[in-house]
Amino acid sequence: MMKQLSAFFIAVVVSATAISQQNKTDLQRVETLLKQMTLEEKVGQMTQVTLAVFAKGGWANQDGELDPALLKKAIVDYKVGSMLNTTAHALSVETWTKLITQIQDETKNTRLKVPVIYGLDGIHGQTYTLGSTLFPQNIGMAATRNPELAKAVTKVAAKELRASGVRWNFAPVLDIGRQPLWSRFPETYGEDVYIGKTMGAVVIKSYEEDGLRNPTAVASCMKHYLGYSASRTGKDRTPIYLPEIELREYYLPQFREAVKAGASTIMINSSEINGEPVHSNKYLLTDVLRKELGFEGVIVTDWEDIKRLYNWHHVASSPREAVTMGVNAGIDMSMVPGDFSFYDLLIEAVKKGEVKMSRIDDAVKRILLLKMKTGLFDNPYPEPAAATNFGKPEYQTLALDAAHEAMTLLKNENNILPLPKNKKVLVAGPSAQSISALNGCWSYTWQGKEEQWYPADSKTIFQAIADKVGAANVITTTGKGFENPVNFDAAALTNAAVNADVIVLCIGENAYAESPGNTRELALDSNQVTIANAAYKSGKPVILVLTEGRPRFITNIEPTAKGILMAYWSGKKTAEAIADVLFGDYNPDGILPFSYPRSMGEMVLYDHKPSEEIREVFNDDIHTGYNPLYPFGYGLSYTSFEYGDIQLSTTNLKGDEKLTVSITVKNTGARDGKHAVELYTHDIYASMTPNMRRLRAFQKISLKAGETKTVTFTIDRNDLAFVNAQLKTVTEPGEFEVIIGKKKATFNYQ
Ligand code: BGC
Repeated sequence: MMKQLSAFFIAVVVSATAISQQNKTDLQRVETLLKQMTLEEKVGQMTQVTLAVFAKGGWANQDGELDPALLKKAIVDYKVGSMLNTTAHALSVETWTKLITQIQDETKNTRLKVPVIYGLDGIHGQTYTLGSTLFPQNIGMAATRNPELAKAVTKVAAKELRASGVRWNFAPVLDIGRQPLWSRFPETYGEDVYIGKTMGAVVIKSYEEDGLRNPTAVASCMKHYLGYSASRTGKDRTPIYLPEIELREYYLPQFREAVKAGASTIMINSSEINGEPVHSNKYLLTDVLRKELGFEGVIVTDWEDIKRLYNWHHVASSPREAVTMGVNAGIDMSMVPGDFSFYDLLIEAVKKGEVKMSRIDDAVKRILLLKMKTGLFDNPYPEPAAATNFGKPEYQTLALDAAHEAMTLLKNENNILPLPKNKKVLVAGPSAQSISALNGCWSYTWQGKEEQWYPADSKTIFQAIADKVGAANVITTTGKGFENPVNFDAAALTNAAVNADVIVLCIGENAYAESPGNTRELALDSNQVTIANAAYKSGKPVILVLTEGRPRFITNIEPTAKGILMAYWSGKKTAEAIADVLFGDYNPDGILPFSYPRSMGEMVLYDHKPSEEIREVFNDDIHTGYNPLYPFGYGLSYTSFEYGDIQLSTTNLKGDEKLTVSITVKNTGARDGKHAVELYTHDIYASMTPNMRRLRAFQKISLKAGETKTVTFTIDRNDLAFVNAQLKTVTEPGEFEVIIGKKKATFNYQ
């Protein structure tokens, strides 16, 4: 044993030494190169353009064919260092391979032959390669409460990106989903800081931990720093008003953790906070991100965001001033991305002394180091070893595992679910024969709506149910595509219901991304409410299946539903996972990563303050504090779990000591099942109004029917902390509660 251990330690030390030697060599190579570079070559490295700039036909390009003259203009004339994106839709591995090869070939015609770093948005799997495997959106992954699963799916995304010749992924999104109106809510890990921190760090390690020279890794990009999701109106890229105390309590911790996890790059929030665009905010970019968080990687803008300092935000009075502001605030690379204006303007700004050469050198050094670390200087071309990692059959199994664990059962009146397989099922609603409504944003196209690009074996809910129970047992009134008018034909639904034993009504949202997903209403469209009411009127039991990226109000149609399954946008295997849960081939174990709101006037989150819990009540006012339709952490199973009492290692925790919290969990039902155990803490009195509870740990366990397991957590004072009036994260002495399920235990901290 000793021998094994010492061999292990020697191996660790040797590999750590090798890594630091590699880092030193990379740095020396970068410094040597930087010394040889002209201002123009340096500024070119800071310039990122989109594929439409040099593809034949621009945005309309369908086949990934490049225009050699435009490619030359970008790489040789403008010395562009980075490129991104696709044009109309996803491309094949072969097309990406050809395209990246052409780009890198063109760099050989430049003086210093610096390779291009290409970036794509592999948000839930590799979005822009045809035939890639798509997994649940982050909101669904958060429902799994299974970081190991998040790690596994991310690894596949990394491999499929790299197989496409791409070494930089614009993921993960670390914005926190506290505003359900926000159109990018599905890309978040939900409303809780701890889930965001945990999943974010795991995912970043998974992208990068193999070492970026390895064909299984990609550089990650934590985004969108900072506070992007807190738009006051919920509209994408609209003003945010956030006091710094709130910024530090809820929005910054995920980024702090992600920096520690080793994220190589970061992308900036396109919006403004308290009247200041983040792209020109030196305090957030340099003082907080660089100095306080210690981030050393590349800071890239989001889409057109330097230009927008002038033409949108109006804080710069000219395009050049916009460039100066952004770069001086700390931006290293500009996602320009539709032209070369940034290049011309930055050169001008440096010549006029508005931007110092030292700032340019600092930015370029980071960019070149990223290129060194990703192995581009050794071999910039798509790697044959990476290509073999594309589209492996086991990715499909993983996609099903992830979709299974995302499924969140919200209602099961009189155990109507699981359904027997010999009943006649009417499958209705707009998502019944839609693929896009199961996958959502960033799915083979930016908006995810064009179904012709999805893999041919993608199933609809209707198909998956028919496959399970036999075509003879399934009827439908729906047609292909979410928006198909027949899907909203209430009379047809009522007629068809006569022949059915049960109705599975598939409603929710079709795919959308970013601003096109803006909505004025969280209420479901009235035509969906109409068909729900038609289904109820038939008198047959109705199961609602919700395929949606954010919680749409179902309050008015919820009481009559016998069962409700929240499916989110869970990727390639969403339909199969839904069918498995509905018919009992999978026992659901997902739990909500957000508070499912009851109404627009009740957007209170689980970690609310005491005055949101006990409100002043006059005139029998119905307001009763935190009263969502379904609370954060809610999700039913086909079995039942019972908790024992909480055991604490001490009731007097001191200083940096650790507190061990254990609890027994028994599966008291007749089925095996998985279960996420969540530990919350509650600071009872504090100098700032304490949250009623904060999630501090979770563990997902598997229990056979009748089995009992003890779950043990270790927490310390950091798990009791909050941001105080001086903006410091502190733990104040006093009484605390640990809460697991309905069980509580108290202890003192000194
Ligand atoms: C989005 C980013 C994305 C970028 C490049 C922007 O519109 O906000 O999340 O990485 O486009 O596609």
